[in-house]
This record gives sequence, C-alpha cells and structure tokens, in this order.
Amino acid sequence: MLKFVNREAELWQLKNILGSAPNSVLFVYGPKSSGKSTLMMKISKMYPGDILFYDFRARSPSEVHRVLANQKPSFGTRMRNYLRRKVQKDNIYDGIELTEAQLQQMARGKVDAFAPLINKLKKYKNPVLVLDEIQNLVHSGLDGQELAQLMNFLITITKRLHLAHVIIVTSDCLFIDEIAKKAAMEEAAEYLYVGDLPKSSVIEWMKDEGMSQAMAAKTYSLVGGRPYDLWVIVNHFRATNDINVIETMVRRKSSRVKLTLKSVGAQELRFIRKLAKGPLSITDISKKVMEWAIDNEIAFFDPVNGEVYALSKSMQEALKKV
Ligand SMILES: Nc1ncnc2c1ncn2[C@@H]1O[C@H](COP(=O)(O)OP(=O)(O)O)[C@@H](O)[C@H]1O
Ligand SMILES: [Mg+2]
Repeated sequence: MLKFVNREAELWQLKNILGSAPNSVLFVYGPKSSGKSTLMMKISKMYPGDILFYDFRARSPSEVHRVLANQKPSFGTRMRNYLRRKVQKDNIYDGIELTEAQLQQMARGKVDAFAPLINKLKKYKNPVLVLDEIQNLVHSGLDGQELAQLMNFLITITKRLHLAHVIIVTSDCLFIDEIAKKAAMEEAAEYLYVGDLPKSSVIEWMKDEGMSQAMAAKTYSLVGGRPYDLWVIVNHFRATNDINVIETMVRRKSSRVKLTLKSVGAQELRFIRKLAKGPLSITDISKKVMEWAIDNEIAFFDPVNGEVYALSKSMQEALKKV
C-alpha cells in the first residue's frame, strides 16, 4: 500500500473550487513527480459527482474531436464498467461516450467538433474534467489551432455555460503559457501549484518508516519534499536500513547534467552555476538557455511567479557538484 502524505492545503482548495459553480479553467501545475496525478486521483475518489479523467500519457488522440470523446462501448462493457464503479465506489469515467455515428459526423465537420459533447455533459452529475499531462497532445499530432479550439471549448463549458469544472494538469509550464496566450485565457483561468511536501510531513513520514531524527533531517536537507525521491529513499531504507542511496541519486543527476553540458556552450554552464544557488527570475535568463534547461529536465519554470529553479532539491544538490 502506497502512503499518501498530507496535501491538506491543496485538497482544501480543490474542494472549495469544486464545491462552487464552474466559472474558470483550473491549471494544476508543478514540477515532475511532485504528486499532481496522485492528488488528482485522491480528490477524484472523494468527489461526490462524476469525474472524467483523461490521462494523455495513455491516450493519444490524433484528431481534435477525439480528445474528449470516446466511442461508446458495447452493452457488455458498459455493464462491466458500471459494476466496477459500484465496487470501487467511485464515479470515474475515462471520457465522454459518443456513438460512432456522432464521432463520424464530428470528423466530417458536419457538426462543430465539440457540439455533441455539450448535450452529453448535461447528463453527468456535476461533472469534472481532469486533463492530465495535457502537453502530450502536441506529440500526438494536434496543431496550435486545434489546441486553441480545445481551450475555447473548455472556456465555454466553464466560464460561459457553467456546465463542468475543468482541471488541466501539467508540469510543462511553457506549454501552459503558450496555450493560455493562444486562447486568450487571461480572465478565464486560475492556477494551483502542487509542489514539494512540507518539511514537517517529510520528517514525520521518514520517522514513521523507522528513521532516526538525524536521518530524517538529513533526508530532508538533501532531497527536500519531492514525493518521488522520498519514495525511492524509503524503499531503499526498508531493504538496507541506510540512506546511502541519496548520494547515488545526486551523483547520477550530476553526471547527467555534465554530459548534457558537453554539447552546449559557456552560457549554459554559467546558468547552471547560478541555478545551483537558488531561484532565478526569467528576466535574467535568455529564452534559449531557459528552454534548454527545461527540455533537459534540469530546471522548472513557474509561470505564476516568473521564476526558474532547479527541478528538485536533489537536482540542486547535483548542480552544486557540476
Ligand atoms: N501525497 C503523497 N504522499 C506520498 N507519496 C506520494 C504523494 N504524492 C506522490 N507520491 C509519490 O510520488 C510519485 C510521483 O507522483 P505523481 O503523482 O505521479 O507525480 P506527478 O503527477 O506530479 O508527476 C508517486 O508514484 C508516489 O509514489
Ligand atoms: Mg502525473
């Protein structure tokens, strides 16, 4: 059984938002492995209405009309899904079900690419659309215009029709910035940051696992509150009773950065030296260097504060060794 730590503040905010009428699109953002998907699953299970959960890592629609719609499954499959939801006591669906005929009409441009979804959405109970890892839509072949079309539809069902909540989850904040601009979302979007776990929760979790106070404190000082890193350390600790894996973790990241630096110039190395010391304002960095660091999973861009920082505490430790 995986442990779920804290997140009270974020859950409280999400409950608050989902408890009132839909009025804007919510971007949930934060560095990779900060626990965004886990948090979405948690709130989905607690939510009293219906959740449409799209995982765009597993789903790669190449046509815009298939992004939110699924072909309605056979009667047997629908029965099985219904029973599964009853047993698991959740109302999580993996898409809005439309008939093949409706999908084809949409594909042929006979009806607006999203119009049939609106009628269907009205049949769900206080629906929430969760779009996880949305940046993958670019890799699955949607172009900028189609993405803007999708965003406009999401604005329509939230801000204009108040029909469904929409939560867009991503760690690619350059992407958020881009689509928010494309679809003129300035007054149609809210943001929720999901970052590292707080120190007290980390220490408590590590001590629950059997670490001494000193070990727990060392763990926090080297990797901070990144859930995934902590999970790796806990697993090793259970087997070995030590936390030496942290050194390996940092060393590995450090060699990866050194290797990446080999194919770039002095500008990037200067950036790394600065980043090792702490957050930087985007006004102090060139766009090229920033994109390089983000693409190579060295840095994270926070679009709300306009800051760039090391992808994680363990990455920052690694950068100090470069
Ligand atoms: N609240 C939490 N408590 C404990 N472990 C967590 C928590 N959130 C995430 N994790 C761990 O971190 C890993 C990465 O989380 P995930 O939700 O996949 O991150 P993201 O979606 O932000 O990339 C999970 O597999 C899980 O092991
Ligand atoms: Mg995720």
